[in-house]
Amino acid sequence: MSRPLRIVVLASGFGSNLQVIVDSIKAGKLRATVVAVISDRHDAYALQRARSENILSIYIDARQYPDRQKFDAALMEEVARLEPELIVLAGFMRVLTAQFVNQYPNRIMNIHPSLLPKHKGLNTHERVLRQGDSHHGATVHFVTPELDAGPIILQKKFPVSRADSPASLEQRVHECEYEIYPRAIQLFADGKLLSTKQRIDIN
Ligand code: GRF
Repeated sequence: MSRPLRIVVLASGFGSNLQVIVDSIKAGKLRATVVAVISDRHDAYALQRARSENILSIYIDARQYPDRQKFDAALMEEVARLEPELIVLAGFMRVLTAQFVNQYPNRIMNIHPSLLPKHKGLNTHERVLRQGDSHHGATVHFVTPELDAGPIILQKKFPVSRADSPASLEQRVHECEYEIYPRAIQLFADGKLLSTKQRIDIN
């Protein structure tokens, strides 16, 4: 059997997707190893999760750098040292520069809380309700320099009900995310995502 896929996770917040990835690895459902978790927030709970799991945790303070380019250069240096095969964005709240993204074509994944290409950016649950969408869900995609616009790898959707609120949608989207993110990473590990045009629906 091949060795586990080396992944580096970038996270700014709670890190529940990170936890699901780690748990999937521990349960033998995902052949990967989280080499490090990097955050731009020193108080990100994701860093604490990493420490509890004995995973290297790294904080990079954006205030130490005059602009995005310089911050991303520092991030790139850190990431390059870790030699990941895949970079996994899990609630990383900074937009990566083209300089960073172009260094890792089809090797950076992101999870987004909407059915892309609908609702790029923030506040997706509110927008779904405001626009009266019939369905909502989550998308795993490769990262390209254009925000939330890279090739779609997996999506999971569910019908929106009249009783839904932003909070209930967030919870249901999370359930979708926890299912499709480890699967997408495993597909990558298995070498099944070679085509950048590939799109797999699992509804
Ligand atoms: C997820 O909803 C993800 O779609 C978005 O940020 C959230 C991160 O949640 N990019 P968590 O930090 O993994 O709990």
